[in-house]
Amino acid sequence: MNLIKCNNYDEMSAQAAKIIAAQLMKKPNCVLGLPTGSTPLGVYGILVQMNKNDKIDFTKVKTFNLDEYYPISKKNTQSYHFFMHDNFFNHINIDEQNVNILNGEAENPQIECELYEEKIKNSGGIDLQLLGIGQNGHIGFNEPGKALKSKTHLIELTQNTINANSRFFEKTEDVPKKSLTMGIGTIMKAKEIVIIASGREKANAVYELLSGEITTANPSTILNAHNNVTLIADAAALGEN
Ligand code: F6R
Repeated sequence: MNLIKCNNYDEMSAQAAKIIAAQLMKKPNCVLGLPTGSTPLGVYGILVQMNKNDKIDFTKVKTFNLDEYYPISKKNTQSYHFFMHDNFFNHINIDEQNVNILNGEAENPQIECELYEEKIKNSGGIDLQLLGIGQNGHIGFNEPGKALKSKTHLIELTQNTINANSRFFEKTEDVPKKSLTMGIGTIMKAKEIVIIASGREKANAVYELLSGEITTANPSTILNAHNNVTLIADAAALGEN
């Protein structure tokens, strides 16, 4: 795994944006896998600015988001559908037809997950997958457990994740208990993976990831079995301050 050490959040965001911008220049019709959460907001901000300054072009880019709460309406301001449009897609020149986000309103979540896998496959697969990391080491919403699922699936969120995400909701009880998420295999099929981490609360998960051991107790550690992963972490996430 390549490691890019950064002094702070802004440096981490700039490094990740640079890799994504290079990917867009190399392959203008590339397929990106994208996360939500607080960590990628800086990256999205830089990419929006670069797009406004005509430095990068999203017209041919396809995107697949990692996950979405279930059930949740697209109009709900806490949905990842809303989050991605509000923070990214509404501000860049991407074709809405090329934006793919799991449907939190799907009547049959199983079919929704199967269709999503098909769509990723038919797009030629993910060229570059950007990931955040949960305090418990989750990637997407693949929570620690005995057996991790390979394909896109419906998952019960752990109390740790519900508590961590309650900061976006009025009350902890409002956080949906389930989510649709790409599976570990879906993520591992990406040709290149960039994982970003910032802040002291990620230090333990990042330490385990860097230890090289692979364990379902920290799903991110599976990335040690991928041959093109870059971890971009700030000093706090590396436990250095
Ligand atoms: C979100 C996702 C999650 C987050 C993780 C970190 O789409 O897949 O795995 O990346 O929970 O979230 P933040 O960045 O808010 O700390």
